[in-house]
Amino acid sequence: MKKGKLGWGLGVLVVLMLILESSTSSRGVRWRKAMQHQEREPLMVPNRVGVSSVMFPLHGNVYPTGYYNVTIQIGQPQKPYFLDVDTGSDLTWLQCDAPCIRCMEAHHPYYRPNNDLLSCNDPLCKSLQSNGGNRCDSGQCDYEVEYADGGSSLGVLVRDVFPLNFTNGAQARPHLSLGCGYKQSPDATNHPLDGILGLGRGKTSIISQLSSQGFVRNVVGHCLSSRGGGYLFFGDDIYDSSHVTWTALSQEHPKHYSPGYAELYFGGRTTGYKNLFVTFDSGSSYTYFNSEAYQGLVYLVKKDLHGQPLKEVPDDQTLPLCWKGHIPFQSIHDVENYFKPFALRFTNGGESKSTLFEFTPETHLIISSKGNVCMGILNGTEVGLGNLNLIGGKSS
Ligand SMILES: *[C@@H]1O[C@H](CO)[C@@H](O)[C@H](O)[C@H]1NC(C)=O
Ligand SMILES: *[C@@H]1O[C@H](CO)[C@@H](O)[C@H](O)[C@H]1NC(C)=O
Ligand SMILES: *[C@@H]1O[C@H](CO)[C@@H](O)[C@H](O)[C@H]1NC(C)=O
Repeated sequence: MKKGKLGWGLGVLVVLMLILESSTSSRGVRWRKAMQHQEREPLMVPNRVGVSSVMFPLHGNVYPTGYYNVTIQIGQPQKPYFLDVDTGSDLTWLQCDAPCIRCMEAHHPYYRPNNDLLSCNDPLCKSLQSNGGNRCDSGQCDYEVEYADGGSSLGVLVRDVFPLNFTNGAQARPHLSLGCGYKQSPDATNHPLDGILGLGRGKTSIISQLSSQGFVRNVVGHCLSSRGGGYLFFGDDIYDSSHVTWTALSQEHPKHYSPGYAELYFGGRTTGYKNLFVTFDSGSSYTYFNSEAYQGLVYLVKKDLHGQPLKEVPDDQTLPLCWKGHIPFQSIHDVENYFKPFALRFTNGGESKSTLFEFTPETHLIISSKGNVCMGILNGTEVGLGNLNLIGGKSS
């Protein structure tokens, strides 16, 4: 996590964020929706395609897969790539046959770049430069990104066509910048990967590029199902804004998708844990609380389980805290009655404007391969996040 990109993002800009409260469906599948919105521009966006939206199905889950992937078409002729979705970093890159010096296993043949290289003077190159994430010795815009989970990519910025089908039926072929990564090192999960789709708040992010070119509003959202899979979308004309709660994004930390500071509530009551700085990151599988809040939450959860037929099982290595029942659990549905919901209350705009982000059992518990239930909220201090509280893909 030293150059440029941060799987867990850190940084600076001015924005708005919205949290779609879960509209629990009657079919029993619950969706948590988190959406991030940069600069709610006035309606005068250069109107290329009627300012519509693009929607992509997501595949994957937090456990056992550990990440979400989206299929994006790139190039002409277009070719599909399975990309890891990361709202915690900006740059989108593909494993690239430039030729490749060190590439990991991939699903598709490595990307073959065209000759459309970004120059060092390009504003997008410069925006990477400001993070110390690129070099410009050779007149081309080299980049290097490293992620909090240990992975990295080194390469050169190029421009290529990203054919898109909009929800209003329009089609477009925007030219967007991406990294041609010819030297990668794998992250801890070591899964096969064509590349990463960076959806952070910085200029190089795909959503920032699409919105600055007037293709969509600067809104990115995702709905992740507790059963795995979900949707990713760019633009703001596909959700019903009457069901969306808006909260201002913190200006103190412009590169984070952060609604700022929150207070932890458990079972409807305040816990006394306040001023928790919270950020969203779909690239992180789990949610992390700082040591103090984590300890408080664990205490409350355990206290609440007292007298219930759940027994802690230290030997299940899936996650630090797991419980077993009389018989192995099949789904979260089997355990949801034992766990009280808890929530983060954001109070950016003062008490009267506070926004609640709820953690239901589906959004913070998993069933391990042994049929135990494990808590997907982890101690962030332990993994070097310091005081940061980070809501990962499972919960957002
Ligand atoms: C990524 O998603 C595609 C469908 O879009 C799926 O076929 C593929 O197996 C997924 N890849 C991984 C590694 O999950
Ligand atoms: C857009 O839709 C057309 C027609 O259905 C399809 O052939 C094409 O592959 C789609 N493009 C993308 C980028 O999904
Ligand atoms: C969280 O991690 C930190 C750093 O490793 C440790 O000092 C602290 O005791 C942990 N907190 C809990 C509640 O486990």
